[in-house]
Amino acid sequence: KKDTLILSFESSCDETSVAVIKNGKKILSNIIATQIKSHQRFGGVVPEVASRHHVEEVTHCIELALDEAKIGYDDLDAVAVTYGPGLVGSLLIGIMAAKTVAFAHNLPLIKANHLAGHIYSANLVADLQYPFMALLVSGGHTEIVLVRSPGEFETLGDTRDDAVGEAYDKIGRVLGINYPAGKQVDEMAARGNDIFDFPRAMVQEDNLDFSFSGLKSSFINRVHHADQVHEELNKDDLAASFQGAVLDILSNKIFRALKQHPVKQLVVAGGVAANQGLRQRLKKDVEERNLDMDLIFPPLRLCGDNAAMIGAIAQVQYDKKDFADLTINADPSLDF
Ligand code: KG4
Ligand code: ZN
Repeated sequence: KKDTLILSFESSCDETSVAVIKNGKKILSNIIATQIKSHQRFGGVVPEVASRHHVEEVTHCIELALDEAKIGYDDLDAVAVTYGPGLVGSLLIGIMAAKTVAFAHNLPLIKANHLAGHIYSANLVADLQYPFMALLVSGGHTEIVLVRSPGEFETLGDTRDDAVGEAYDKIGRVLGINYPAGKQVDEMAARGNDIFDFPRAMVQEDNLDFSFSGLKSSFINRVHHADQVHEELNKDDLAASFQGAVLDILSNKIFRALKQHPVKQLVVAGGVAANQGLRQRLKKDVEERNLDMDLIFPPLRLCGDNAAMIGAIAQVQYDKKDFADLTINADPSLDF
């Protein structure tokens, strides 16, 4: 059987990324141009600024991706692009670039779901066995997803308010940390102790949903109260207490889901899957429960937004001949 080479695009937020993926498994190139520095002085991603950067970067990223993969347009079998969810102006740049390449080189176009891409980042490092469970934790999403067969997703649980990465970024700001704050909060948490009693919302409830806004508010109120009475709080302990609550919540819900649907693999994906505390905690939980289940954490460089993961899910669609036409539009609030 002939190899399939897919040129994939990801531009849903603040990374412009173009990759070449072979057979949905092997990364021939994965170019990621991050704009984080341009957004930091605003304390978060500014959509207008993001779109402009994507326009400036995308052509160069295509050249780099083909060069690094040592291939030309003629070697490609398809072009894939994230069409949602994400920032509409950002998505549109990737979509325009992908459409242009597909049209100019007469290649099939595949429209990929960003969330499905995060989950399929695991396919680049493991052989997925269906059904498997996925915990998708990013700046915009917190979901428990059952993947019954290739490309078939069922959301079992979701956040009712903030996404977990968003909560990290918001409490990080109160600690004086630049956007995105997750990595630094994680590092502080490793040095601190979980001594503040922050709420673990919904863990008593028999469902698979999450809520992080109460935890975030409780954290912010505690810090503001301390400021008012000139009380000195240890920032590492604050971070450790916040992360302790987050990990208890995520662990509680994911093992509840696994009890209902025992599977052989748990994939943890999305930007927050880079969290070292989360990695250690879930590993310990799986061991303590004696579960015959593989825990799959994609490597750090595949946890954040990247086009390699889009190439991985696109291969599933390629195999089903699930092609799009050149009229596709961005879908900013796309879910599964
Ligand atoms: O998946 P991603 O790159 O973009 C979205 O699709 O949202 O995720 C970005 C999020 C940010 O909120 C960032 O703070 C968080 O992932 N993040 C982390 C860590 N590294 C990144 N959160 C907790 N711990 C980390 N080590
Ligand atoms: Zn993402």
